[in-house]
Formats: sequence, C-alpha cells, structure tokens
Amino acid sequence: MGEYHITGGQRLNGQLSIYGGKNAVLPMLAATVLNKGISVIHNCPRISDTFMVINILKAIGADVKIEGNTIIIDSSDADNYLVPEEYVREMRSSIIFLGSVLGRFGQVKISYPGGCELGARPIDLHLKGIRQLGADIAEEGGFIFAKAAEIKGARIDLDFPSVGATENIMLAAVLAEGRTIISNAAREPEIVDLQNFLCAMGAKISGAGKGIIIIDGVKSLYDVEYTVMPDRIVAGTYLSAAAITGGELLLKNIVSDHLNPITSKLEESGCEIKMEKTTVYLKAPKEIKPIKRLRTHPHPGFPTDMQPQLMALLSTANGMSIVEETLFESRNKHISELIRMGANIVLLQDGMTSVITGVKKLQGANVICKDLRGGAALILAGLAAEGKTVVANSAFVERGYVRIEEDLKKIGADISYFE
Ligand code: UD1
Repeated sequence: MGEYHITGGQRLNGQLSIYGGKNAVLPMLAATVLNKGISVIHNCPRISDTFMVINILKAIGADVKIEGNTIIIDSSDADNYLVPEEYVREMRSSIIFLGSVLGRFGQVKISYPGGCELGARPIDLHLKGIRQLGADIAEEGGFIFAKAAEIKGARIDLDFPSVGATENIMLAAVLAEGRTIISNAAREPEIVDLQNFLCAMGAKISGAGKGIIIIDGVKSLYDVEYTVMPDRIVAGTYLSAAAITGGELLLKNIVSDHLNPITSKLEESGCEIKMEKTTVYLKAPKEIKPIKRLRTHPHPGFPTDMQPQLMALLSTANGMSIVEETLFESRNKHISELIRMGANIVLLQDGMTSVITGVKKLQGANVICKDLRGGAALILAGLAAEGKTVVANSAFVERGYVRIEEDLKKIGADISYFE
C-alpha cells in the first residue's frame, strides 16, 4: 500500500471542482444489471470501489467500457446470477447486487459481505425486505441464495432507514409485479439520484428523499444516459481541510442542499460559509470554535461519513467538543492515531461518545489509515500539524477519493504520495 507524506502548516487557498459521488455511482452500476440494454453513466469517480463494482458487472456477463469518467455498460447478454465471492468479501457495499441480480434473473447467489471495517454492519433489513417481495432466502456456508418465481410488490416498513436496504429493495422492486411501498426509507441524496437514474431508464418510482418511496413495477427498461451527482462527502472533506489550515476555499460543481448538514456544523465551528446553488465558499476563522454536541444521524442529519474529518478539525478548536457516533460502532479507529499526533480525545466506555479538548497545535507523526474516512481525517490532521506526518495504508483513502494529494496540492498543501 502507498503512503502520504505531508508537511503541515500550509494555509490552503484556491478552488476545486467536485467529482461524482461514490455512494451514488455504486448502486447505479449495480442497477444497470436490470436493463437488458445499454447504460451510459457520466461523471463516475475513478476510485478503487468503482473498479471493484465493474469487475462484478463483468463477472455477471455485462460488457463494460470505460472512457475517461464515463462508463458504458451493455447488460444485454448478462447471464450469471452468481456474484463472485472475492469481490463481495473485499467491498461490503457489493451486497447491493442482491436486489439487482434477483430482479434480473429471479435468483441470486452472493456471499455474506466480509472484511468490514466499520463493525458488524448487519444486513437483516436487506434480507427482510427482499423476503417481503416474495423471495425465498437460504443462508448457508456464508452464502445467501435468494430465489423468486415471481417478485411481487409489497408494503415494507423499514425498522431503520438503512441506505443499503432501501437501495436493494428499490432495485428488486423495479421489475416486480405491482406496487411496492417502502416506508421509513433512507432519505440520503444518493437515494434520490438512484431514483432519477432508474426513472431515466423507464422505472416508475417516486418519493425518494421524503421517506416513503413508491415503486410501480414495469415489464422492462430501456437504454439510458445519466450524470452522477457530485460527492458531498468529498466536498465536506475539502471544506474541512481548508478550515483546519485557516484557509479559504471555493468549491464548484456541488449541490448546496446536499451540503447543508455539513456546512451548518462548519459554521458552528466559526467558519464563514457562502453558498450558491452549485458552489460553496468557506473562509476559516482565526480560531476554530468547539461544537458542544455533534451527533451523527441519517440524512438530513450530520453524516457519519464526515464524523472523523470533523473530529480532526475539533482537535484544534479552542475548547471542548462532544462527538457522538450513532451509526457504526467501529467508526472511531482514527482516534488512537489522532492521539499519536497530540490530539486530546477521550473515547467514553460506550465506544461511541468522544470528548475532544482542542490543542493549540497537532504534531506530525507516523500514522496508519484503518478505514476510508478515518484516513481522510488523518490527512487533514497532517495538513494542520507541526512538522512531517506520514499517513500509511493509502488504499483505504483511494477507495473513495480520486488522487486526493493532487487536489490538495492544487490549493497549496505540501503533500506527496509514495508507492
Ligand atoms: C451507506 C454508505 C456509507 C454510509 C452509510 C450511512 C454506501 C455504499 N455506503 O452504508 O458510506 O456511512 O450509508 O450513511 O452508500 N443496519 C442494520 N441492518 C441492516 C442494514 C443496516 O442494522 O440490514 C444498520 C447498520 O449497522 C448501521 C445503520 O443501520 O448502524 C446504517 O447503515 P446503512 O444506512 O445500511 O449503511 P450502508 O448502506 O451500509
């Protein structure tokens, strides 16, 4: 794995453009299996997770071409309902193929997602929803085998607004007989983007983003061309990078509504924010203010995928902050590394609540990425720290950021990537 070498202390300044969203493109690529035709998807981020999903599509029998940031998928001759174990084990979100492969072939065999870096992350809600659509599911030897003579629309009340479960049910219901209603559905912008993509290829879906999604099954889909929404977490990460270095940043190609849960917290930390529909400007304060209570929550709450980056920022605040992680029990693996850099963070016994007392300066150190967003947080800490920081295990960061070092260099960071 590669590593990032950072010399901290440079004030970031300039502008960047935000590329397509990881969590939007992955379910869209899975959705192309439902379309016995050609799907053209623009603005795809060239990250390792995208390439992993492309491998799955090829294994299922789709023909995939990549032209820059555009992916062209021809699923006409897809013929394999076995999702290869090696990919599912490496990337948990490939469980999204459960719904789409079942929807296309009436059956699917997929391994239990393994190697997860954010704790247990059960899939009970996915399986319950798929069963309610009429599939029989057998779980054996680490594999899930789902089969349905006919997928039938149903009313599904999710116990929790899980993003992945909502997407899987949507995908399985697109070609079902009759109407499916998902209540307590996830409201993340990526769900709205998936709805828009599916509708652009002929699906009948409404309600995404509002909590109740209605899917009227259609017989078939048609060729589609679509552009993926911008990555709101990449945008939030770059804004936080500017904030932690006392800098100033203009981001282009964002959707301001998507960013509100993040920018409202950056404002609370003292940053000046100016938003237009597709741009956001941040100016850091002289001193970062603590945030009394930062609690992660499903959208439109504060996203768990921004928690580590904000924790890095609050490590430099003038006072005490409390950060509560409510979604993933293993989301806090960056804390021990931030402490190596001089941060004052106490993780309470529940493993979810952290008390952060800001320090005047973080110190450069050798640290290790243990997951994607935690890795991004360590890079931010390195940008603000005194001296040199080496962030090892870059592969985690490469799962979700396109050459993060190149973007940060453009706005003045002293960062290099070494293989
Ligand atoms: C997606 C995102 C991830 C983000 C997360 C929350 C993708 C590829 N990944 O992950 O980046 O951090 O949403 O915004 O889009 N749960 C269950 N049973 C289930 C499913 C989930 O108990 O069947 C629980 C999880 O353990 C977790 C919570 O629900 O505590 C949220 O998980 P979920 O919304 O499903 O996240 P993912 O879809 O895995």
